[in-house]
Amino acid sequence: MADSLSRGFFAGNNTLWKAILSAGIFLYLLLVLYSNRQNPSVFFIRWPPPADISPIGDDGDGDRTNLSHIAFGIMGSVATWPKRRGYTEAWWRRNQTRGFIYLDRQPPPEYLPWPETAPPYRVVDNISYLFQTVKPRFELMPRMVHGILELFREEDRGGAGGLRWIVMGDDDSIFFVDNIVDVLSEYDHNKYYYLGWHSESVISNYWFSFDQAFGGGGIVLSYPAAKALAADMEGCLVRYAKSSSADLITMTCIADIGVNLTPHKGIHQSQTP
Ligand SMILES: *[C@@H]1O[C@H](CO)[C@@H](O)[C@H](O)[C@H]1NC(C)=O
Ligand SMILES: *[C@@H]1O[C@H](CO)[C@@H](O)[C@H](O)[C@H]1NC(C)=O
Ligand SMILES: *[C@@H]1O[C@H](CO)[C@@H](O)[C@H](O)[C@H]1NC(C)=O
Repeated sequence: MADSLSRGFFAGNNTLWKAILSAGIFLYLLLVLYSNRQNPSVFFIRWPPPADISPIGDDGDGDRTNLSHIAFGIMGSVATWPKRRGYTEAWWRRNQTRGFIYLDRQPPPEYLPWPETAPPYRVVDNISYLFQTVKPRFELMPRMVHGILELFREEDRGGAGGLRWIVMGDDDSIFFVDNIVDVLSEYDHNKYYYLGWHSESVISNYWFSFDQAFGGGGIVLSYPAAKALAADMEGCLVRYAKSSSADLITMTCIADIGVNLTPHKGIHQSQTP
């Protein structure tokens, strides 16, 4: 009884159902074509397709990350400067790259005037006042990490510096500046990032950490990560005064603000035998 009823219903109104179906398809297509394009995901189809997909570092108004947003901090020393200056001068672009080379003391007169082909120099802060009670294992290590704060302090310019990223390296690090700009423009500088790469020597990763960026290849911090690290810098240098390496102190200090390494292939720390 029910069977014959339903069959009769569908069979008897075949043309009606076809008309309803056609009208449905027609209305659906109409909706897809003329729907509010701000919210096209409702229909799972976006028509017309988006003209271009903006990179993450570009919020659509042409504000893509460029060289002017990246500050470089190079950890050097007066003793290594004469032999290593060529490494830094090889990639430094006068009036284009921003940042400083940090020296352990004032350069002697024979190194002055300071060449314009190199980053301007700064003498690192004397932070011995931090270590009244806890003596650092190596004096040099906390001072190198403190360089991150010193770079941030000067390049941030109280928030007016247009700073998005800081890149830390050694005085024998070589940076491919255009590649760094390309890579960083794909990341959102408003998020917390700690970019770097492991050592190419497995034993070094074992000795220090597999989650550590090795500074010889450069470490990169986004603005909020650098800011948070700078805010907690003095406390963390005291906490980890007994650490054996500047890169390890950097990693643990960054871990304390809740940020892990984002490994990025292409940042190479090589081991020369
Ligand atoms: C870099 O971007 C800024 C905007 O954030 C812009 O004012 C500046 O002209 C850009 N520089 C270059 C070299 O494109
Ligand atoms: C760099 O800037 C300084 C002043 O800011 C200027 O005197 C010098 O000519 C510039 N050099 C180049 C290579 O543009
Ligand atoms: C750092 O300051 C302490 C005293 O505050 C001083 O004894 C020491 O010589 C200074 N170190 C350098 C390298 O200037």
